Amino acid sequence: MRIKIYTFCLCEKLLAAAKFAMKPLRVILRTMNVSENAASRNGFAVRADRVSRHYKMGEALIRAVDQISLEIRAGEFLALLGASGSGKSTLLNLIAGLDRPSSGAILAQGRDLAAMSSEELASHRSQTIGIVFQSFQLLPRMTLEENVELPLRLAEVPRGERPARVREALDRVGLGARVKHRPTELSGGEQQRAAIARALVNRPMILLADEPTGNLDTKTGEEIMNLIAEIHRPPSGPGRTVIMVTHERGLAERCADRIVTLSDGAISREERLR
Ligand SMILES: Nc1ncnc2c1ncn2[C@@H]1O[C@H](COP(=O)(O)OP(=O)(O)OP(=O)(O)O)[C@@H](O)[C@H]1O
Ligand SMILES: [Mg+2]
Repeated sequence: MRIKIYTFCLCEKLLAAAKFAMKPLRVILRTMNVSENAASRNGFAVRADRVSRHYKMGEALIRAVDQISLEIRAGEFLALLGASGSGKSTLLNLIAGLDRPSSGAILAQGRDLAAMSSEELASHRSQTIGIVFQSFQLLPRMTLEENVELPLRLAEVPRGERPARVREALDRVGLGARVKHRPTELSGGEQQRAAIARALVNRPMILLADEPTGNLDTKTGEEIMNLIAEIHRPPSGPGRTVIMVTHERGLAERCADRIVTLSDGAISREERLR
């Protein structure tokens, strides 16, 4: 059955991953093997090498990200702080491969994103990276289980494996009892947890989260942060690299290994916490 995809802005991002769905599974596996080997060789999940993203607006040049160099270790929890407009989302989108730098390079698990074909990039996004957007970006006509299943369909995970994977992801975020609900039938915190389940369902090595608590009250925000901290370091099994944008220094201090603060598209401060 064809996937019914709506023309919301999320879909541009999901559709980028959909190109990848055309590729046979063995290509995916080959790409994953390359990534994992490369990651174990250099120990970095992500490296930004003098990365810039400039926008031309008439005569003006906006330096949204300007010559940022940053290395993020595999398994590290990095918090990105900074005033509104300082370039946090732009940098996160570059790391995700959703946007291309004006200059400089992003290496993810040892591979230069610019050197990847569009299929490899889509595969990388689909297999290696999970993204939680600030505004949830769930598809309103789909139930929760359909929303969470979508990345598996795009990644051509065999149909028979999907229900268990969806169940596992939804159980993990405490939404096992809400699988038939549509997004409008969920609270804000539940929608955010569903967005996290969707980001996790492909078992990515790197979780990118753009202000995952930005729309939530303090208590629900804390719950989401505890969930992300547990995804970073689960009680058993491998942890994940987490790169999280937040405005809340307290949350960052509690969970992150390192805080990087951006100002005007550049790194203005770096603090190693643990
Ligand atoms: N497509 C675009 N065209 C032109 N300028 C842009 C574009 N996207 C972002 N910018 C500009 O780049 C700068 C950085 O934007 P970005 O979204 O990365 O900020 P941010 O740190 O995530 O802010 P916030 O905390 O408000 O989400 C801003 O000044 C913004 O206006
Ligand atoms: Mg932003």
